[in-house]
Amino acid sequence: MEQPMALLGQIADVGRDGRRGGYSRPVHSTAENELREWFVAAAEQRGLLVETDRNGILWAWWGQPGPDAVVTGSHLDSVPGGGAFDGPLGVASALSAIDLMRRRGQRPGRPLAVAVFPEEEGSRFGVACIGSRLMAGSIDPDKARTLTDADGNTLADVYRANGIAPEHLGEDGDRLAGIRQFVELHIEQGRGQVDLGAPVAVAGSILGHGRWKLTFRGQGNHAGTTLMADRADPMVAAAQAVVAVRRIAAGRPGARGTVGRLSPIPGGTNVIASQVDLWVDVRHRQDAVTASIVEELYAAAGLIAAAEGCTVTLTEESLSPTVRFNEGLTAELRTVLGAVPVLESGAGHDAGVLAARIPTAMLFVRNPTGVSHAPQEQIETADADAGAVALADVLAHLTRTTE
Ligand code: GLV
Ligand code: MN
Ligand code: MN
Repeated sequence: MEQPMALLGQIADVGRDGRRGGYSRPVHSTAENELREWFVAAAEQRGLLVETDRNGILWAWWGQPGPDAVVTGSHLDSVPGGGAFDGPLGVASALSAIDLMRRRGQRPGRPLAVAVFPEEEGSRFGVACIGSRLMAGSIDPDKARTLTDADGNTLADVYRANGIAPEHLGEDGDRLAGIRQFVELHIEQGRGQVDLGAPVAVAGSILGHGRWKLTFRGQGNHAGTTLMADRADPMVAAAQAVVAVRRIAAGRPGARGTVGRLSPIPGGTNVIASQVDLWVDVRHRQDAVTASIVEELYAAAGLIAAAEGCTVTLTEESLSPTVRFNEGLTAELRTVLGAVPVLESGAGHDAGVLAARIPTAMLFVRNPTGVSHAPQEQIETADADAGAVALADVLAHLTRTTE
């Protein structure tokens, strides 16, 4: 078996972020395209049959593509300045698991594929899990096509430039009908397994989560000539909104509320901004609580804006309800692996999107730092190996492998 860490070592220099450290690998950047090429080469080297579907998802088949397939896989894109493992660990472990099954002399009794999903993070076009959402029919392809990156490129143009015809994006019922089960292996993105002393775990659920844009508009003006009493400064309103997100989320047990991105227009040191956009990420296991946080935030933002002589608008950019993974499949994984812990995931995953359409489960591998979406994300080699062995055991079981 080529070990997951050895495979990840092959891409350790791709997309390094010189500013924050870690990796910046947005979908269809030079870096992510290089990772896609690496995956295709690694899959073909293993004799897998590689195809790109109409939603830009890569598929590598062991044997002929066919119905009743078992699929594993993850993503290769990253957040800005992210870690080495969020996504790539699942892809590398899938290849390692196939190596291991072969070394054991195991042959799957039904089709087995590794899938690589584009734009899982939504770090380029704003909506997470675009590939799986398109396949599952949970985003309108017209909306997806018009999503725009920070440089003003539409998703349609970027996909076309990368060989994916944007007019063919959308729900792929035939492909979904051919998948029997999907199992995604992923680095754990919190401290759950560290606290439990468990190298491998399964996910029971994913917190519901969504992204909203708050836009404050005021009066752009001169930093030196505008008296403090005469200002309508959207930056001052935005700063108070950031604090309001913290206060409102902290008031709901189990909730998470984050502002990780804020953009002043035009953004000059000696310029009072005319507009500030800020993006709010809210998560809770009860979707009604998520909705109530956003409602309270919008009301607070209205008061904040009015007090500063500004206006505010709120736009929902995406919303993913709480996901409970298939109980039968999750129980089957725990039969194969022993009674590994069942964790709630605070992070979103393509598996969460696909769970609405096909029986889906997830395997987690321990992250000793508990940090993710940051360069300090970590995996021990022995845990990565344990994850690949667990995935091989699960895939062998689900594909009714013969020896
Ligand atoms: C993806 O990792 C997310 O949870 O935002
Ligand atoms: Mn991920
Ligand atoms: Mn992530």
